Order: sequence, then structure tokens, then C-alpha cells
Amino acid sequence: MENELKALMDKALKEINNCQTSSDIEAVRIRLLGKKGELTASLRSMKDLPEDQRPLFGKHVNEVRDALTQAIDKKAGELNRIEKERRLKAEAVDITMPGKKQMIGGLHPLTRIYYELRDIFVSMGFSVMDGPEIEYDKYSFEMLNIPKEHPARDMQDTFYITEDIVLRPHTSPVQIRTMLSQKPPIRMICPGRVYRSDDVDATHSPVFNQVEGLVVGHGITLANLKWTLDAVMKEFYGENTKTKFRPGHFPFTEPSAEVDATCAKCHGKGCGVCKGTGMIEVLGCGMVHPNVLLNCGIDPDEYTGFAFGMGLDRLATIKYGITDIRLLFENDIRFLSQFK
Ligand code: PHE
Repeated sequence: MENELKALMDKALKEINNCQTSSDIEAVRIRLLGKKGELTASLRSMKDLPEDQRPLFGKHVNEVRDALTQAIDKKAGELNRIEKERRLKAEAVDITMPGKKQMIGGLHPLTRIYYELRDIFVSMGFSVMDGPEIEYDKYSFEMLNIPKEHPARDMQDTFYITEDIVLRPHTSPVQIRTMLSQKPPIRMICPGRVYRSDDVDATHSPVFNQVEGLVVGHGITLANLKWTLDAVMKEFYGENTKTKFRPGHFPFTEPSAEVDATCAKCHGKGCGVCKGTGMIEVLGCGMVHPNVLLNCGIDPDEYTGFAFGMGLDRLATIKYGITDIRLLFENDIRFLSQFK
């Protein structure tokens, strides 16, 4: 049995030496020294020895255990060190390498235009309201005094989802929603995406962006409307900008007007953009029709209001001299990066 013990020790030392990784050595540790390990088995076989030989054999087994434990610990320490070094080398960061160049983005020209306009209106005490792009026909037309037979309701102009639900063709339904949920005084703008069944060309897109606005209160007059929009245009296009109010027609305002502003390209001299007139149409507006106020539960004998609407895309093309509206939607980085 002493010979077996010696053989076990020699074999074990060889195994320990052959270990390549720390998991190898842990496996050997369990196989040799574990509860079901080979050395424990030899200790158990001691009972087959004559009683007087047992203490000496036990002592030898313990010596072997100590020797193997030491050998394993030593080897495990070595392997751990080698593995750690290898890991550190593999994960090393070369701090002398040049950094990656970051592209710094900019705001989209439409977003810029919107922020500029919003800031102007907010500085005048307007709040910003939001509404759904998928909207009731009722809020988009009916309550805005647009009768059933009005051409704007035609399938050729409006995207219908069902008979009662449309992709909003303007942001005016947000004004209806505001009047239904708030009591005057009201002073709000509603920016957002709108949809009309137009073919795409240099000046048309089935999806575009509006900023509309509404003021309702005691004693609001056409003079307030004119002053407000003139002030906004001067702030937006520059202080030398002039505005011209021409009679217009919208079912939801009475009287209605269309507003031209000094051409931002030629500053009124006349150019290709303004077709030689020096002025360019920028928005529609008017005094809120009494029927619209009534539809929203506001007494037109007590309150009056004005409303206006402008196309952001149009304002952007005028301001930046962009000749094709499609550039605003194509997201060509060569175009967009000019606006940083
Ligand atoms: N809703 C109109 C449009 O989409 C714009 C407008 C709003 C005109 C308010 C007058 C008053 O064209």
C-alpha cells in the first residue's frame, strides 16, 4: 500500500505539472483532494491494514496530502499570474492612438425656422399647443365653418382614413380643440405636420408644416391682427420688412386677408423669387368667424378673435433662398450641413 501511495503521488505531481490553465488545476485539485478524491480513497482503504501499521500509513497519507496541496497551490498561483498577464495585455488600451473624429450635427432648417418663429410668438405671450395628425373631419372642417360641399373636403385635396377621420389638412383643428377646452382669453400657436393630396414638385409636397395661431379675448380687432403679424414678420425677416394685407377668403374667418411680406431675397427690388413684385405671399389670416366661436361655445357678442396660418416650408424657402421644397425632405447631408 505504501507503494501505491508513492505511485499516486508521482502520478499526481506529473498531472499537476502538465496543467495548462487554472481550470485544469482546479479539476486536478478536486480529483485528488476532494471528498471523493483519490487520496481520500487511500485513507479509507487504511482499514484493510493491520492495526499497528495504520498510524504510520495515516501519517504518510497526510504528508502526501500536504505535499500535493502545496504543489497545486504553487501551480495555481503561477497559472493565475500568467492568465492575468495575458488578459491585461489583450485588453490594453493604446492611449497614443489618434481619437475618432466626431461629426457634430446641426438643426434642420425647418426646425430652425420653427424655433425662431416660436420664440417670437412666445415672447409676445403666446403658448404652444399640440394636437393629433389623425383628426376628426368634424374638427378639421365642420366646426371651422367649412360646409360639406366645400371643395377643400374633396378627396382630391384631403386624405380620408374613414368618412369621419382625416389626416389633418391644416393645424386649425388644434385651435378648435383649444377653444373647446379653454375659456378666453386665448393666445396660442399650433405648429405641426399637415397633409394634402398634392403631387410632389418644386413647390408642393403631400406632407408639409404649418404654424397657425389664434387670439380670442375681449375687444380683439383687425388692428390687433395687423399689428401682431407685421411685428412678427419684422422680427422674423428683418426690421425693414413691410407687410401688405390683401382681401382674401377663408370660411373660418371674416373678414379674411392674405399677407405679403417684402421679398427676403431682393429686399423689395424685384427678383426671380418674387416674380419682380418685391413682395411675396407669406400667410393667411382673418377675424375668427362668429360661427366658429359659437361652435366652440364662445359667445361672439362678448368675444372676438383673430387667426392666422403660415407654411413653415414656404417661410424657410423664402428665408434661405431655397428653390426646391423637396430639398427640405430629402435629408441630403450636403444640403443640410449648410445650415449649421
Ligand atoms: N387654415 C388655413 C390654411 O391651412 C390657414 C389660415 C388659418 C387662414 C387661420 C386664416 C386663418 O391654409
